[in-house]
Amino acid sequence: MTKSISVTARAKINLYLHVTGKRADGYHLLDMLVVFAATGDEIRVSAADDLSLSIDGPFGAGLSAGSDNLVLRAAAGLRDLAGIDAGARIHLTKNLPLASGIGGGSADAAATLQALMQLWRIEPPRAALFDLAARLGADVPVCLDGRASFVGGIGEEIAPIGPLPEAYLLLVNPLVETPTPAVFKARTGDFSAPARWSRNPANIQELATQLASRRNDLTAPAIKLAPVVAEVLDAIAATPDCQLARLSGSGATCFGIYETQAQAEAARSAILSQHADWWAVATKVAA
Ligand code: C5P
Repeated sequence: MTKSISVTARAKINLYLHVTGKRADGYHLLDMLVVFAATGDEIRVSAADDLSLSIDGPFGAGLSAGSDNLVLRAAAGLRDLAGIDAGARIHLTKNLPLASGIGGGSADAAATLQALMQLWRIEPPRAALFDLAARLGADVPVCLDGRASFVGGIGEEIAPIGPLPEAYLLLVNPLVETPTPAVFKARTGDFSAPARWSRNPANIQELATQLASRRNDLTAPAIKLAPVVAEVLDAIAATPDCQLARLSGSGATCFGIYETQAQAEAARSAILSQHADWWAVATKVAA
Protein backbone atom coordinates (compact mmCIF):
# COMPACT_ATOMS: atom_id res chain seq x y z
CA MET A 1 0.00 0.00 0.00
CA THR A 2 1.24 3.51 -0.77
CA LYS A 3 2.27 5.48 2.25
CA SER A 4 -0.04 8.39 2.97
CA ILE A 5 0.46 11.38 5.26
CA SER A 6 -2.46 13.14 6.99
CA VAL A 7 -2.48 16.62 8.48
CA THR A 8 -5.43 18.34 10.20
CA ALA A 9 -6.12 21.80 8.82
CA ARG A 10 -7.26 23.25 12.14
CA ALA A 11 -9.90 25.97 12.24
CA LYS A 12 -8.43 29.43 12.87
CA ILE A 13 -10.26 31.63 15.35
CA ASN A 14 -9.73 35.38 15.75
CA LEU A 15 -10.25 36.04 19.47
CA TYR A 16 -10.08 39.73 18.57
CA LEU A 17 -9.47 41.55 15.30
CA HIS A 18 -8.71 45.26 15.09
CA VAL A 19 -8.46 46.93 11.68
CA THR A 20 -5.64 49.43 12.22
CA GLY A 21 -5.19 50.92 8.73
CA LYS A 22 -5.24 50.36 5.01
CA ARG A 23 -2.36 49.92 2.58
CA ALA A 24 -2.13 51.63 -0.80
CA ASP A 25 -2.86 48.27 -2.50
CA GLY A 26 -6.21 48.00 -0.70
CA TYR A 27 -5.21 45.37 1.87
CA HIS A 28 -6.04 46.22 5.47
CA LEU A 29 -3.55 46.37 8.32
CA LEU A 30 -4.69 44.26 11.24
CA ASP A 31 -3.90 43.56 14.87
CA MET A 32 -5.42 40.28 15.98
CA LEU A 33 -5.12 37.35 18.32
CA VAL A 34 -5.33 34.09 16.41
CA VAL A 35 -5.79 30.70 18.07
CA PHE A 36 -6.53 27.30 16.58
CA ALA A 37 -9.31 24.87 17.37
CA ALA A 38 -8.82 21.13 17.71
CA THR A 39 -11.34 20.58 14.90
CA GLY A 40 -10.71 21.17 11.20
CA ASP A 41 -10.51 19.85 7.66
CA GLU A 42 -8.24 16.90 6.84
CA ILE A 43 -5.56 16.81 4.14
CA ARG A 44 -4.15 13.43 3.08
CA VAL A 45 -1.35 13.11 0.54
CA SER A 46 0.31 10.13 -1.14
CA ALA A 47 2.94 9.74 -3.86
CA ALA A 48 1.85 9.98 -7.51
CA ASP A 49 3.36 11.05 -10.82
CA ASP A 50 1.12 14.11 -11.23
CA LEU A 51 -0.60 16.55 -8.88
CA SER A 52 -4.30 15.80 -8.37
CA LEU A 53 -6.99 16.74 -5.86
CA SER A 54 -10.13 14.94 -4.75
CA ILE A 55 -12.60 16.31 -2.21
CA ASP A 56 -15.24 14.85 0.07
CA GLY A 57 -16.77 15.69 3.46
CA PRO A 58 -19.91 17.52 4.58
CA PHE A 59 -18.94 20.77 2.78
CA GLY A 60 -17.02 19.20 -0.13
CA ALA A 61 -19.79 19.60 -2.68
CA GLY A 62 -19.44 23.41 -2.80
CA LEU A 63 -15.78 23.34 -3.80
CA SER A 64 -14.06 23.04 -7.16
CA ALA A 65 -11.08 20.64 -7.35
CA GLY A 66 -9.69 22.57 -10.33
CA SER A 67 -6.24 24.15 -10.58
CA ASP A 68 -7.60 27.37 -9.03
CA ASN A 69 -8.20 25.53 -5.74
CA LEU A 70 -5.86 26.98 -3.10
CA VAL A 71 -4.70 23.45 -2.19
CA LEU A 72 -3.42 22.80 -5.72
CA ARG A 73 -1.93 26.28 -5.93
CA ALA A 74 -0.05 25.58 -2.68
CA ALA A 75 1.22 22.25 -4.02
CA ALA A 76 2.37 23.75 -7.34
CA GLY A 77 4.01 26.67 -5.52
CA LEU A 78 5.92 24.34 -3.19
CA ARG A 79 7.09 22.20 -6.12
CA ASP A 80 8.38 25.30 -7.91
CA LEU A 81 10.04 26.61 -4.76
CA ALA A 82 11.86 23.31 -4.21
CA GLY A 83 12.72 23.01 -7.91
CA ILE A 84 11.51 19.42 -8.06
CA ASP A 85 9.26 17.54 -10.45
CA ALA A 86 7.31 15.47 -7.91
CA GLY A 87 3.58 14.76 -7.98
CA ALA A 88 1.06 13.84 -5.29
CA ARG A 89 -2.45 12.58 -4.90
CA ILE A 90 -4.09 15.03 -2.49
CA HIS A 91 -7.38 14.37 -0.74
CA LEU A 92 -9.29 17.04 1.17
CA THR A 93 -12.07 16.19 3.61
CA LYS A 94 -13.98 19.45 3.97
CA ASN A 95 -15.55 19.48 7.44
CA LEU A 96 -15.76 23.26 7.88
CA PRO A 97 -18.27 25.57 6.16
CA LEU A 98 -16.92 27.57 3.20
CA ALA A 99 -16.04 31.29 3.31
CA SER A 100 -16.77 31.31 7.01
CA GLY A 101 -14.02 33.27 8.79
CA ILE A 102 -12.24 30.31 10.39
CA GLY A 103 -9.39 29.75 7.98
CA GLY A 104 -10.90 27.19 5.67
CA GLY A 105 -8.99 27.50 2.42
CA SER A 106 -5.99 29.11 4.19
CA ALA A 107 -5.72 26.27 6.71
CA ASP A 108 -6.10 23.71 3.91
CA ALA A 109 -3.30 25.37 1.94
CA ALA A 110 -1.02 25.44 5.00
CA ALA A 111 -1.76 21.78 5.82
CA THR A 112 -1.00 20.87 2.19
CA LEU A 113 2.42 22.56 2.43
CA GLN A 114 3.16 20.68 5.69
CA ALA A 115 2.04 17.31 4.33
CA LEU A 116 3.91 17.66 1.02
CA MET A 117 7.14 18.76 2.74
CA GLN A 118 7.00 15.42 4.59
CA LEU A 119 6.03 13.39 1.53
CA TRP A 120 8.67 14.95 -0.70
CA ARG A 121 11.23 15.11 2.15
CA ILE A 122 12.04 18.75 1.48
CA GLU A 123 12.74 21.59 3.87
CA PRO A 124 12.74 24.91 2.01
CA PRO A 125 14.30 27.92 3.76
CA ARG A 126 11.76 29.32 6.25
CA ALA A 127 11.69 32.82 4.73
CA ALA A 128 10.97 31.50 1.22
CA LEU A 129 8.32 29.12 2.54
CA PHE A 130 6.51 31.90 4.44
CA ASP A 131 6.77 34.16 1.35
CA LEU A 132 4.99 31.46 -0.63
CA ALA A 133 2.39 31.15 2.13
CA ALA A 134 1.75 34.93 2.12
CA ARG A 135 1.33 34.90 -1.67
CA LEU A 136 -1.33 32.18 -1.32
CA GLY A 137 -3.39 34.28 1.12
CA ALA A 138 -3.05 36.67 4.02
CA ASP A 139 -4.02 34.04 6.63
CA VAL A 140 -1.86 31.21 5.26
CA PRO A 141 1.37 32.19 7.16
CA VAL A 142 -0.23 32.01 10.63
CA CYS A 143 -1.96 28.74 9.70
CA LEU A 144 1.41 27.34 8.58
CA ASP A 145 3.06 28.47 11.81
CA GLY A 146 0.16 26.88 13.72
CA ARG A 147 0.70 28.51 17.12
CA ALA A 148 -1.60 30.89 19.02
CA SER A 149 -0.18 34.28 18.03
CA PHE A 150 -0.68 38.01 17.86
CA VAL A 151 -0.71 38.75 14.14
CA GLY A 152 0.03 42.09 12.47
CA GLY A 153 0.66 43.62 9.06
CA ILE A 154 -1.83 42.02 6.69
CA GLY A 155 -1.12 38.64 8.29
CA GLU A 156 2.62 38.17 7.82
CA GLU A 157 3.85 39.46 11.21
CA ILE A 158 3.44 36.55 13.61
CA ALA A 159 4.31 36.78 17.32
CA PRO A 160 3.54 33.54 19.21
CA ILE A 161 1.78 34.35 22.47
CA GLY A 162 2.77 31.41 24.66
CA PRO A 163 0.44 29.36 26.84
CA LEU A 164 -3.18 30.46 27.22
CA PRO A 165 -5.56 29.07 29.85
CA GLU A 166 -7.51 25.94 28.88
CA ALA A 167 -10.64 27.03 27.04
CA TYR A 168 -13.46 25.42 25.06
CA LEU A 169 -15.22 26.85 22.06
CA LEU A 170 -18.60 26.63 20.46
CA LEU A 171 -18.44 27.48 16.74
CA VAL A 172 -21.75 28.42 15.12
CA ASN A 173 -22.36 29.27 11.47
CA PRO A 174 -25.79 30.09 10.01
CA LEU A 175 -24.64 28.69 6.65
CA VAL A 176 -24.66 32.07 4.98
CA GLU A 177 -21.42 33.01 3.21
CA THR A 178 -19.79 36.37 3.98
CA PRO A 179 -16.94 36.67 1.45
CA THR A 180 -13.88 38.38 2.95
CA PRO A 181 -13.38 41.06 0.24
CA ALA A 182 -17.05 42.16 0.49
CA VAL A 183 -16.88 42.41 4.30
CA PHE A 184 -13.71 44.53 4.24
CA LYS A 185 -15.30 46.72 1.55
CA ALA A 186 -18.40 47.29 3.70
CA ARG A 187 -16.32 48.44 6.70
CA THR A 188 -16.63 52.17 7.46
CA GLY A 189 -15.44 54.51 10.19
CA ASP A 190 -12.18 55.08 12.00
CA PHE A 191 -9.36 52.63 12.40
CA SER A 192 -8.63 51.03 15.79
CA ALA A 193 -5.44 51.00 17.80
CA PRO A 194 -3.50 47.74 18.25
CA ALA A 195 -4.37 46.08 21.56
CA ARG A 196 -1.78 43.46 22.46
CA TRP A 197 -1.21 42.50 26.07
CA SER A 198 2.14 41.91 27.70
CA ARG A 199 1.04 39.32 30.30
CA ASN A 200 -1.11 36.36 29.32
CA PRO A 201 -4.32 35.82 31.34
CA ALA A 202 -4.00 33.21 34.09
CA ASN A 203 -7.50 31.76 33.75
CA ILE A 204 -10.48 31.83 31.44
CA GLN A 205 -12.24 34.61 33.39
CA GLU A 206 -9.18 36.85 32.94
CA LEU A 207 -9.04 35.86 29.27
CA ALA A 208 -12.68 36.87 28.81
CA THR A 209 -12.07 40.18 30.62
CA GLN A 210 -9.05 40.96 28.41
CA LEU A 211 -11.04 40.12 25.30
CA ALA A 212 -14.13 42.08 26.38
CA SER A 213 -12.24 45.37 26.00
CA ARG A 214 -11.23 44.35 22.46
CA ARG A 215 -13.45 43.75 19.40
CA ASN A 216 -13.80 42.23 16.01
CA ASP A 217 -13.98 45.35 13.82
CA LEU A 218 -15.54 43.34 10.99
CA THR A 219 -18.68 42.57 13.02
CA ALA A 220 -20.77 45.54 11.82
CA PRO A 221 -19.96 45.05 8.11
CA ALA A 222 -20.56 41.28 8.39
CA ILE A 223 -23.98 41.97 9.96
CA LYS A 224 -24.71 44.48 7.19
CA LEU A 225 -24.11 41.74 4.59
CA ALA A 226 -25.72 38.93 6.62
CA PRO A 227 -28.10 40.23 9.32
CA VAL A 228 -28.49 36.68 10.71
CA VAL A 229 -24.99 37.07 12.21
CA ALA A 230 -26.51 39.33 14.91
CA GLU A 231 -28.97 36.56 15.74
CA VAL A 232 -26.14 34.03 15.99
CA LEU A 233 -24.19 36.28 18.37
CA ASP A 234 -27.27 36.80 20.57
CA ALA A 235 -28.02 33.06 20.63
CA ILE A 236 -24.46 32.21 21.72
CA ALA A 237 -24.36 34.98 24.34
CA ALA A 238 -27.62 33.65 25.82
CA THR A 239 -26.24 30.15 26.50
CA PRO A 240 -25.43 29.36 30.16
CA ASP A 241 -21.76 29.76 31.19
CA CYS A 242 -20.80 31.63 28.00
CA GLN A 243 -17.80 33.86 28.84
CA LEU A 244 -17.77 35.77 25.55
CA ALA A 245 -19.55 35.64 22.17
CA ARG A 246 -17.83 37.08 19.09
CA LEU A 247 -17.46 36.88 15.31
CA SER A 248 -14.34 35.19 13.90
CA GLY A 249 -12.51 36.82 10.95
CA SER A 250 -14.93 38.16 8.36
CA GLY A 251 -17.63 35.69 9.48
CA ALA A 252 -20.10 34.33 9.32
CA THR A 253 -18.83 31.88 11.95
CA CYS A 254 -19.25 33.15 15.52
CA PHE A 255 -17.79 31.57 18.62
CA GLY A 256 -18.53 31.32 22.31
CA ILE A 257 -15.87 30.66 24.96
CA TYR A 258 -16.56 28.24 27.85
CA GLU A 259 -14.60 26.85 30.77
CA THR A 260 -15.45 23.18 30.15
CA GLN A 261 -16.19 20.87 27.24
CA ALA A 262 -19.53 19.93 28.87
CA GLN A 263 -20.62 23.60 28.91
CA ALA A 264 -19.68 24.02 25.23
CA GLU A 265 -21.55 20.79 24.33
CA ALA A 266 -24.64 21.91 26.29
CA ALA A 267 -24.59 25.27 24.50
CA ARG A 268 -24.34 23.46 21.15
CA SER A 269 -27.41 21.33 21.94
CA ALA A 270 -29.37 24.37 23.12
CA ILE A 271 -28.60 26.31 19.92
CA LEU A 272 -29.31 23.42 17.55
CA SER A 273 -32.63 22.75 19.28
CA GLN A 274 -33.70 26.30 18.31
CA HIS A 275 -31.89 26.48 14.94
CA ALA A 276 -31.68 23.01 13.41
CA ASP A 277 -30.45 24.51 10.10
CA TRP A 278 -27.33 26.12 11.60
CA TRP A 279 -23.91 24.42 11.81
CA ALA A 280 -22.50 24.12 15.34
CA VAL A 281 -19.45 22.33 16.75
CA ALA A 282 -18.08 22.19 20.31
CA THR A 283 -14.29 22.03 20.38
CA LYS A 284 -11.20 23.02 22.34
CA VAL A 285 -8.60 25.74 21.88
CA ALA A 286 -5.60 23.72 20.70
CA ALA A 287 -2.66 23.74 23.13
O1 C5P B 1 -5.35 37.23 1.08
P1 C5P B 1 -6.74 36.71 0.91
O2 C5P B 1 -6.97 36.16 -0.48
O3 C5P B 1 -7.18 35.79 1.97
O4 C5P B 1 -7.68 37.99 1.06
C1 C5P B 1 -8.95 38.06 0.48
C2 C5P B 1 -9.40 39.51 0.38
O5 C5P B 1 -9.70 40.01 1.69
C3 C5P B 1 -8.39 40.48 -0.19
O6 C5P B 1 -8.47 40.54 -1.59
C4 C5P B 1 -8.82 41.81 0.44
O7 C5P B 1 -9.94 42.32 -0.25
C5 C5P B 1 -9.30 41.38 1.81
N1 C5P B 1 -8.26 41.49 2.84
C6 C5P B 1 -7.88 42.74 3.28
N2 C5P B 1 -6.91 42.85 4.23
C7 C5P B 1 -6.35 41.73 4.79
C8 C5P B 1 -6.73 40.45 4.36
C9 C5P B 1 -7.70 40.36 3.37
O8 C5P B 1 -8.39 43.77 2.81
N3 C5P B 1 -5.43 41.88 5.74
